[in-house]
Amino acid sequence: MTNEEPVVDSVAGAEGLEVPDLISRPRRNRKSEAVRSLVREAHLRPDNLIWPLFVIDGSGQKVPIDSMPDCFRYSPDVLVAEAKEAFARGVPAVALFPALPDSLKDKLGSESTNPDGLLQRTVRELKDALPELVVITDVALDPYSSDGHDGILQDGQILNDETLEVLAAMAVSQAESGADMVAPSDMMDGRVGCIRAALDANGFSNVSILSYSAKYASAFYGPFRDALDSQPRSGDKKTYQMDPANCEEAVREVFLDEEEGADIVMVKPALAYLDVIARVKAETMLPVAAYNVSGEYAMLKAAARMGWLDEDAAVMETLVAIRRAGADMILTYFARDVADRL
Ligand code: PBG
Repeated sequence: MTNEEPVVDSVAGAEGLEVPDLISRPRRNRKSEAVRSLVREAHLRPDNLIWPLFVIDGSGQKVPIDSMPDCFRYSPDVLVAEAKEAFARGVPAVALFPALPDSLKDKLGSESTNPDGLLQRTVRELKDALPELVVITDVALDPYSSDGHDGILQDGQILNDETLEVLAAMAVSQAESGADMVAPSDMMDGRVGCIRAALDANGFSNVSILSYSAKYASAFYGPFRDALDSQPRSGDKKTYQMDPANCEEAVREVFLDEEEGADIVMVKPALAYLDVIARVKAETMLPVAAYNVSGEYAMLKAAARMGWLDEDAAVMETLVAIRRAGADMILTYFARDVADRL
């Protein structure tokens, strides 16, 4: 920007216009990539990322998920190899979700505490192969429930306190198989305290709780439910997952989880809830996680496949925005690919 060439004088209406002396020129801080890097506020590193993975039984399996292009359901052996690769690229953690056949589902989600269940076996294989990898397991009934709900369904109602007993047993079973963190995603009242007590009573005081504190009843979970075939068979999840219209309530849920012993609190989904992430980050002293959910993944992938978006740029922008909002860590299906590019 020199003062020599009054190019705009040739623009009709701009002749003789006086530009005042500008004291502040914010563009100086954007003048080169090096300067921009000095003043950058939010950063995205592989160690901010948690990679959610779907596991199916068998060996040598890598089954595509239609609504989640480039995401697969892996059998444990392949999953271990994939996790190795991600860990080598700097991703410190994975979150596991088992996809089970209907024959293993029942009203109480009994398979969830089977010591030789798919999830438990996968955790053991992962920890054997990669002792340093943080293995996070999901605590909720839905992958195991013949009703496709996160809690026990009776006469059209989700039973809170009865569900807590199953969740606590599930968390202990996951800890026994070697999980480093259990992540209750069910949204029952009091589950964090109940799980903490059960873990401690069973000698797992070192196992952490990553709580899905503010989990909304969101349409953006659709592709995930395809991946696990875990759609609710009746009704919806609105009596336990939060109303998308609420933010104050998220803070209240976070405070309750803090009191009950959560180690990390989560906001889910991420993109339509950046204000909630920012608010929660301002209110809590605990680390904050955000879940960039399946529907957010699918939207970007679909637009990129249509040629309507530059996928790499849009993914980076999305993830750095979630960090800027206040998330210390992000669960994202892009984790492995992004780590590669960072
Ligand atoms: C289930 C669970 C869900 C997700 C994580 N754990 C779906 C649901 O609550 O119906 C969604 C994750 C995603 O959409 O990526 N307890």
